[in-house]
Amino acid sequence: MRRFLLQTFGCQMNMHDSRRIEEVLYAQGYEATDAPELADLIVFNTCSIREKADHKLLSTVGTFRPLKERKRELVIAVAGCMAQQQGKALLARADLVDIVLGPDNIPELPELVRHVQNGGKPIARTEFDLDQPAFLTARVRPDRPEVASYVTVMKGCDERCTYCIVPYTRGSERYRPATDIVREIQTLCEGGVREITLLGQTVNSWHEPVRPEVGSQPIAQGLKLSALMQQPVAESQFAELVRRIAREVPALARLRYTSPHPRHVTDALVLAHRELPILPAHVHLPMQSGSDRVLRRMLRRYRRHTFLEKARALQASRPGFTLSTDIIVGFPGETDSDFEDTLSLMREVGFVSVFGFKYSPRPHTPALRLSDDIPESVKSERLARLFEVADELQVQHHAQLVGQMVEVLVDGPSKEAGHVAGRSERHELVHVAVPSGTDWTGRLVRARVTQAKKRSLFAILEMPLPAAARDLPSARKMPVRLPLVVS
Ligand code: 5AD
Ligand code: SF4
Repeated sequence: MRRFLLQTFGCQMNMHDSRRIEEVLYAQGYEATDAPELADLIVFNTCSIREKADHKLLSTVGTFRPLKERKRELVIAVAGCMAQQQGKALLARADLVDIVLGPDNIPELPELVRHVQNGGKPIARTEFDLDQPAFLTARVRPDRPEVASYVTVMKGCDERCTYCIVPYTRGSERYRPATDIVREIQTLCEGGVREITLLGQTVNSWHEPVRPEVGSQPIAQGLKLSALMQQPVAESQFAELVRRIAREVPALARLRYTSPHPRHVTDALVLAHRELPILPAHVHLPMQSGSDRVLRRMLRRYRRHTFLEKARALQASRPGFTLSTDIIVGFPGETDSDFEDTLSLMREVGFVSVFGFKYSPRPHTPALRLSDDIPESVKSERLARLFEVADELQVQHHAQLVGQMVEVLVDGPSKEAGHVAGRSERHELVHVAVPSGTDWTGRLVRARVTQAKKRSLFAILEMPLPAAARDLPSARKMPVRLPLVVS
């Protein structure tokens, strides 16, 4: 039996790619293992969004040197964004690495492993599939049932935010046809999945891929197919995609998406949030900065007031709607006053959760030309203040939820005895006290919040009695709180 060990770093897109790496290896008869000494193949699926990630990877790979020296036939592969960004150069930097594999080359992994095992030289494959984009789909695994799953709707990014390496590690935007997306979601739901998160670097820029007719004029004139497929369309069609999924997959309980770009938060998307109960009452909307000067230098393509308008429109779409965000501190040239603008916009929007990062200069990015002039100590100070405000906002938000009803999609047992754990419609982690003897996994339950902690909520199953039942004498004697289930 051949075995692989897979370590994943970074974002949800990477987690999702790791599932696809597993799929291609399982299809070749591999088994997963957590024990390095049992592995024939070790794969690191890497992130390169900040510099720290690079150092972390190289030191992690280094810890496998004694094992590789003992077991020469062990194959070590580096996949993901760092592999894409460094390509062949990574083979030179890390002599333990046999295979460097870009995110679009995952299906080639078994073939590359065979090449190395047959005595071939270390090899790098990092070509983008621009002309025929492939979106690997998940296989339903009855041995590992899932309540929540991810589906990619687009990949790559054309935004070119000046600090960001993603356009270089993931290539230009490519879109997946709605029919394929809906089919994958249907298959996952038939396998028991109840929540889908649509994935894409700018997920809400989605539109149907524009496919030129074969033999059409522009191709004859030698234009690249990839350029044609990326023809700009007037506005994102993401809201239509969401409506189509809601219509065609009635078994789906929840439809999330990440990460949207603020400039593609259209009126149509806000309206979809208002009208479709399947959409959650929460969106993660990266803000990056609250200063117009910094936003311009970041090339974010929106201003403070337009961000606030979009945030307000989403918040007004449903009662209790919440937003979380990403913020960078210490971007080149960020003054104290720019940073104060960020804190004030955070408060004005009232984010319930904030991911904060210190600016980290990345290869190929335009911001390299603006020198990294904010001292590390100032970045650290600003990040600490940002987290103080973020914590304050989160604690306030959680506290006002006590006594309110939440709708929880149960993921499975909680680490708290007598409870199950799941996510609310706003994505809060909720531990729900339930009567024993029932499997609640995958069920959508209504519960009343009894206690708020900093990072999670406690609740108890509750649902008002149906009107008819209230009239029954026995029902009158029943406790007010009854464990009933929505679906
Ligand atoms: N430095 C710091 N943070 C960054 N991010 C992206 N690039 C950088 C960088 N060079 C952050 C952004 C993005 C999140 C995923 O990572 O906030 O939204
Ligand atoms: Fe990076 Fe900006 Fe694209 Fe997001 S939108 S992936 S921050 S370039």
